[in-house]
Amino acid sequence: MDNNATIYTETNQLVLRQFCLTDIESFYLYRSRPDIARFQSWDNYQHDQAVAFINKQIEASPNIPGAWLQYAVALKTTNQLIGDCAVHTLETVPDIVEIGFTIAPEYQGKGYATEAVTGLLGYLFEILHKHKVIAYSNVENESSIRLLERVGMRREGYLLQNYRSKGIWVDEYLYAILQQEWKHSLEHQNLSI
Ligand SMILES: CC(C)(COP(=O)(O)OP(=O)(O)OC[C@H]1O[C@@H](n2cnc3c(N)ncnc32)[C@H](O)[C@@H]1OP(=O)(O)O)[C@@H](O)C(=O)NCCC(=O)NCCS
Repeated sequence: MDNNATIYTETNQLVLRQFCLTDIESFYLYRSRPDIARFQSWDNYQHDQAVAFINKQIEASPNIPGAWLQYAVALKTTNQLIGDCAVHTLETVPDIVEIGFTIAPEYQGKGYATEAVTGLLGYLFEILHKHKVIAYSNVENESSIRLLERVGMRREGYLLQNYRSKGIWVDEYLYAILQQEWKHSLEHQNLSI
């Protein structure tokens, strides 16, 4: 494992860190699965695509307007890659970012995605001082919708035929959370402890 990989943020059980070359096999294993690809832009993901993707991520920096950065999600105890979170800094409004997320099937249903995305929101609002975080979800992607609502994001729009997924136009929900809503939810949690 590359000990020089930058750690962006940590949660109880996870680190959100830079990808490293030793992640390639784990990344390829989950990304190439049809159930993981179902609501995503790719299909039939190949090993050489995984190698190229991770090499590109190793060179990339966060917070570049117009660019996506993929954050590796790894277990704190073993540094095992279990998924990734993607952040797109909008080109014309870089104070707003779009997020996406994937957790490998064997690590789903355990709360890791909720923990990773909550940690990501903290990083985006408190370290990068973003104004608003948005996410699009296919209206049929139920686990993604449940996750977005669990982390406190609001359904802000229903976008008809907003995305061409594998040749078919699909409807999407737009979810969002403002920095002030994030801070308010933290204050509320402190009050209720
Ligand atoms: C979207 C995705 C990341 C959600 O993963 P997930 O494992 O369902 O989400 P979490 O890790 O937060 O787990 C929550 C589930 O685990 C259950 N759970 C079990 N133990 C838990 C624990 N200790 N803490 C919290 N939740 C726990 C929860 O009840 C919840 O179940 P539910 O969804 O049936 O209500 C995953 O389905 C995925 O990778 N999909 C493919 C990629 C994709 O489509 N991404 C979205 C487009 S970018």
